[in-house]
Amino acid sequence: MTDDRREAALQYARKNKEKNLSALKEILTIPSVSTEPAHAADIRHAAEWMAAQLRGLGMQKVQIFPTARHPIVYGEWRGIKNAPTVLIYGHYDVQPADPLDLWKTAPFEPTVRGDSIFARGASDMKGQSVATFKAVEALVKTGGLPVNVKWLLEGEEEVGSPNLADFIASHKDLLACDFAFNPDAGMISKDEPTITYALRGLAYFELRISGPANDLHSGVFGGVVHNPANALAELIAGMRDSKGRITLPGFYDSVRKLGREEREELARIPSDEKYYLEKTGVPALLTEQGYTPNECSGARPTLDVNGMISGFTGAGSKTIIPATAMAKISCRLVPDQDPLEVGRQMRRYLEENAPADIRWELVEMHGGDPSISDRDNAPVRAFSAALETVWGKRPYFKREGGSIPVVGTMQQLLSVESVIGGFGLPDDNFHAPNEKLHLPTWYRGIEALIHFFLNLEP
Ligand code: BES
Ligand code: ZN
Repeated sequence: MTDDRREAALQYARKNKEKNLSALKEILTIPSVSTEPAHAADIRHAAEWMAAQLRGLGMQKVQIFPTARHPIVYGEWRGIKNAPTVLIYGHYDVQPADPLDLWKTAPFEPTVRGDSIFARGASDMKGQSVATFKAVEALVKTGGLPVNVKWLLEGEEEVGSPNLADFIASHKDLLACDFAFNPDAGMISKDEPTITYALRGLAYFELRISGPANDLHSGVFGGVVHNPANALAELIAGMRDSKGRITLPGFYDSVRKLGREEREELARIPSDEKYYLEKTGVPALLTEQGYTPNECSGARPTLDVNGMISGFTGAGSKTIIPATAMAKISCRLVPDQDPLEVGRQMRRYLEENAPADIRWELVEMHGGDPSISDRDNAPVRAFSAALETVWGKRPYFKREGGSIPVVGTMQQLLSVESVIGGFGLPDDNFHAPNEKLHLPTWYRGIEALIHFFLNLEP
């Protein structure tokens, strides 16, 4: 009986590939860029599109909750008394598309080239959300859903989810569930099914340095004042030592150590030095002494400049000492670091190291908690079996270097674990020009989700 149901749902998904792709194209045309106020109407439009999808799936209580910024979409179906309830997470917002001139086709005109569809949000993560809709649709339209589902779809993930924790805290009953499914992570490669069990957190800063009241002539005043751009560069250079370790005071105090068994499991992942050289195009890697590249990208914290600006950057030359300099700096954090604590460490570093001949100001922007999840529980086993059925091999268990703060928030506020997966690939260009989604992997993903939900049936 179950086998028939499985087959019927899989057949439904296979027959509807074109329709599923059309639905994906529809949402990819909406430029729901959360950081840009000019796109507020697009964000609302995307939220309404998501709500309409949930209604179309026969979800009950579909509702768009306003927040201080972008709305949260909720829906649920609770038709089976004794089955588990899965809370499916998604975000319908995307990162800005610029630089636009580097896109081969327009970011919000989804275009299929070869095996992939190109558009902002295709992989991160509208494609992932649509995959969950389409797997549920296949089940609803054939034998019926085997589990209860709830959906939490936010529009602020790409700006650090500033209003999500409050929403979760004030809607604990609504969101009560047995576990969450979060498809915002991806796979190691198209042939390597992957389950993510840890995510890095984030602490994001803007560091502003100022010196002279105006830009100065660098001949007249050079040699007597500290150049803010030089001072910024010196401060940043001091934030890391020659062993690749970050020097903010106390930075490593709460970093959870990697155990031997975990290091062995991580060493199975086929991403060695050569892999990172190929994926990035750098002439050599820069890692923390004593750790493999793979450990450095998922299980160790970082400090990076994300952007900096100062002085004259136009064509030609201009001989000035700039009045100000600014850098955006962020740290990726690992369990059990706390973004607020790292903020205090950054401030202490500046108090101890900033010279008296400049002024500095530190703005603490958004942050997010790191998380580490169970690697062995019933839902993880159900997902692992589903991936194995479709890909024919046991999934890799990976620590992700990117951040999905809601996973930690749900652990803290709802006491629920997340199963973290997704069908994006490392070369999907998330946040970059020519973002894409590999369609054969996406179709397999939808099938894997069908297996997953059926595997959860008690
Ligand atoms: N989907 C990503 C997280 C991710 C990136 C998972 C790479 C797996 C691989 C998510 O949308 C994202 O970009 N998160 C931000 C969070 C930040 C704004 C708090 C990130 O990691 O920069
Ligand atoms: Zn993202």
